[in-house]
Amino acid sequence: MALSLALRDGDAADIETPLLGVLLPAGTELPPALRALDERLGGAIRRTLDRGDFRGVRDESLHLDGGSSRAGRVLLIGIGTPTELPAALRRGASLLGRKAHGMGVGTLAVVAPGTDADAAEAIAIGLNLGAWEYLDLKTPPPEAERKKPLTKATIVVGDAKVSKDALARGEAIAAGYELSRRLAQMPGNVCTPDLLAKTATDIGRRHKLKVTVLGRREMERQKMGSFLCVAQGTDQDPKLVTMEYRKGKRGDAPIVLVGKGLCFDTGGISIKPADRMEFMKFDMCGAAGVLGAMEAIARLKLKVNVVGIFGATTNMPSGNAVKPGDVVISHLGKSIEIINTDAEGRLVLADLLSYARRFKPAAVIDAATLTGACVIALGHTATGVLGTDQALVDEVITAARRATEPGWQLPLWDEYKELIKSDVADMKNSGGRAGGTISAAMFLKEFAEEYPWVHLDIAGTAYSESDLVAIPRGPTGVPTGTFVEFVRGRAG
Ligand code: BES
Ligand code: MN
Ligand code: ZN
Repeated sequence: MALSLALRDGDAADIETPLLGVLLPAGTELPPALRALDERLGGAIRRTLDRGDFRGVRDESLHLDGGSSRAGRVLLIGIGTPTELPAALRRGASLLGRKAHGMGVGTLAVVAPGTDADAAEAIAIGLNLGAWEYLDLKTPPPEAERKKPLTKATIVVGDAKVSKDALARGEAIAAGYELSRRLAQMPGNVCTPDLLAKTATDIGRRHKLKVTVLGRREMERQKMGSFLCVAQGTDQDPKLVTMEYRKGKRGDAPIVLVGKGLCFDTGGISIKPADRMEFMKFDMCGAAGVLGAMEAIARLKLKVNVVGIFGATTNMPSGNAVKPGDVVISHLGKSIEIINTDAEGRLVLADLLSYARRFKPAAVIDAATLTGACVIALGHTATGVLGTDQALVDEVITAARRATEPGWQLPLWDEYKELIKSDVADMKNSGGRAGGTISAAMFLKEFAEEYPWVHLDIAGTAYSESDLVAIPRGPTGVPTGTFVEFVRGRAG
């Protein structure tokens, strides 16, 4: 559930709230805007700064009693020495939102340095990110033990003139993240291709987008042998979903966002080891990013043409499943030798990318939890970025940075094509372990014809198996923000 947010001007010392969050940069200076508050706390903030009990380093936090202020408690949160203030505020607000949610205070106020429109937007996003939790499948605890979820927050803007539009923008993006993370956190037996398609239809109905859904039969007619061979091992109907948002100029070529939507990836006949296989429910985070971004873009009412496309299915072993050595013919007509049925994402994306040509795109960006090799190369900090058009690669990396979802480019040179040569078909679906992220992208490149294209490998960044401090383990929402910022950057 999204937070209800409000702006308030005036002094932080005068605000009645069970919890006042104070976002503080590194240093020992007491910001002038906090002087009155500090006085009401009997000088407690100044003393903690003087003693070095609190230094304002990133992710540091310290509880203080509200003293004679109108706040029940005060929580200092460090934001470090920010190079980009909105990004630092977003993270600080996320940590605050997470802590407030855990405390069960229900509502809070937050004060931060330099709260302009961009800062207010970032804080709105951060609070929502931090307070998010997926509780649908847990029995609620008895009334007496229930903690109040964080439902309301007030952002104190001091004397700055910040309009409610900034908040609305933050809330629109937060809603996109929320949808994306919610879908990702759902187990594979709840988040099915059917549910993803229904979610797209629902967005279409609420925001007047044209949504089309192709099932197995329709994809057979489109000769999508690459996508379909992945879906061969499951009775679930696979879905190819397109969502058309057209608020730009008539006739302007659209931006096309493409997502991998594997509701679960067992590996198929080339089955994965049992240990930690449960995390493969997150193999639909590319598709969740497309859905979250379309929701946010529609709420932002961006004046731009965008088409979202995703392919949803489940990679299962069965008596009918595709097997190593099989050769399939893709929608584009190129033949593919299946070496490893666990390299299924590229098979789905191949047909999506050639299907995208029908929209005559200005640019295509795909996002996929595509390779374990990307996690080895870049860890959980950066998304792998590869593409056919350097200007577009640069534009995507800039957008990703703005969204605090950093990306790092890997090469896509012709030399690497050697890795996917097949003895019997036009190419094979696995290039082996060395350069695994690059050979996967080289495979995709074979199908990304007729438009500038960038691929995002989000295998290491879409979810976390361990706690991330400002958010708990689980889905991060990547690549929702990158998609939104890219589209925002292009909107007139
Ligand atoms: N979904 C996986 C990639 C993945 C791995 C995502 C770890 C998130 C975390 C993908 O379908 C896959 O299995 N890729 C194989 C490719 C290989 C068989 C060429 C891989 O990375 O091992
Ligand atoms: Mn796989
Ligand atoms: Zn996969």
